[in-house]
Amino acid sequence: MTDQTPTVPMEKIVSLAQRRGFIFPGSEIYGGLSGCWDYGPLGIELKRNIKQAWWQAMVQNRDDMVGIETSILMARQVWEASGHTERMVDPLVECKNCHLRWKADDLQGTRCPSCSGELTSPRMFNVMFKTFVGPVEDSANMVYLRPETAQGMFVNFDNVIQSIRKKLPFGIAQQGKSFRNEITTGNFIFRSREFEQMEMEYFVKPGTDDDWFNYWVQERLNWFINHGIKREHLGLSEHPKEKLAHYAKRCVDITYLFPHGWAELEGIANRTDYDLKQHSKASGKTLDYYDDETKEHYTPYVIEPAVGVDRSLLAFMCDAYAEEPDKDETRVVMHFHPALSPIKAAILPLSKKENLSAFARDVYKDLRSHLMVQYDDTQSIGRRYRRQDEVGTPYCVTVDFQSLEDKRVTIRDRDSMNQIRIPVAELLKTLTAKLEGEDLFVLPPGGEIWKVEREKKG
Ligand code: GAP
Repeated sequence: MTDQTPTVPMEKIVSLAQRRGFIFPGSEIYGGLSGCWDYGPLGIELKRNIKQAWWQAMVQNRDDMVGIETSILMARQVWEASGHTERMVDPLVECKNCHLRWKADDLQGTRCPSCSGELTSPRMFNVMFKTFVGPVEDSANMVYLRPETAQGMFVNFDNVIQSIRKKLPFGIAQQGKSFRNEITTGNFIFRSREFEQMEMEYFVKPGTDDDWFNYWVQERLNWFINHGIKREHLGLSEHPKEKLAHYAKRCVDITYLFPHGWAELEGIANRTDYDLKQHSKASGKTLDYYDDETKEHYTPYVIEPAVGVDRSLLAFMCDAYAEEPDKDETRVVMHFHPALSPIKAAILPLSKKENLSAFARDVYKDLRSHLMVQYDDTQSIGRRYRRQDEVGTPYCVTVDFQSLEDKRVTIRDRDSMNQIRIPVAELLKTLTAKLEGEDLFVLPPGGEIWKVEREKKG
């Protein structure tokens, strides 16, 4: 954590996100709904790619993991047993003058940050959203929207064990919406009221939990680095004992240098056997594990890496953002890891002439069932490159009149701005290899280095 200067102001990310269709304020035409955000055409692609990259690392590539998807609405007893009804509370203070409400923990002084008015003494406010199941809105039918996805894994522990017969250690992973009626939201999508989480509960034999905790901190840190976040923008922050959540023996946050400063990106907690034991006690259902090697029954301990999709999307956007010299101007470029880029390649015919368009459209159609690609024939080629750089498209495929003769196209690399010319028959194979990390200058059969136009950076 050496570099204390955030790399990009939040306004630039917010402006690019809105201008280029990543993220819009929720219900914007009615003035917006505080703490709610909508994802636009490029935002949804980025979000899906982040979720896919997490799923691939956490579930698909592992033998010790399974996925699950549980309901947002859960029985009220779940939250009583887990401790959320009593403890998912924040201290709320209100200004006696302007009536703005604040989370007491976030305040530096003792007066209202907005008008310096006197504040009420704190009262505890439960951040879980309430709603009703069925047509009668009485307390018997009141339920909460889940504030975390984790409890879905605990209440299904036995269902999973019985149906898939996994041996410890193993994990259950889930992605899905969570809701918290945060007293204060802000910093764009960093803290919102409706957000998505990616959580994994890793069940281990008690006594092995400390080692598994360290393992998961390292795994999760590596995941961010492997997907393009610079190591110097990531930190680790240990929760002091007195600030641990009620269920946790230990908790380490992976922090990121957001535009508003260092803040939690992901939390890794050792939840011990707290949740399984609580649900077992409250439901009367035994939630333990039979170890057929040692012939003993015990309640597993749980290591939980929990991250927000939206919050990691913000970190990926901030870390990808760059302004770089390009000839006499400056280009804005999002250096997304190719696996996360919303669009993998753009097909750009140099002219709208019919024969060229027909050829370029065929190239586009051949690619689109394999990769998320875009066809763009508006404005100059320079402007089109800029537009694609700004949304982080790793490759532009240019189709020119010579392509009609020699059946070759030019691939331009977003980061180096180098270009190679290859036979169109090799295009899909070449793009796929490059997206998987192969060096741009490993040319396919019949390929050639076409033009190297990058101006040396300062
Ligand atoms: N099951 C444990 C749990 O939910 P948490 O630290 O409260 O732990 C985990 O949440 C992650 O979810 C956070 O690190 C953050 O990335 C994300 N998150 C939590 N509250 C959020 C909010 N109001 N808006 C956006 N993301 C949030």
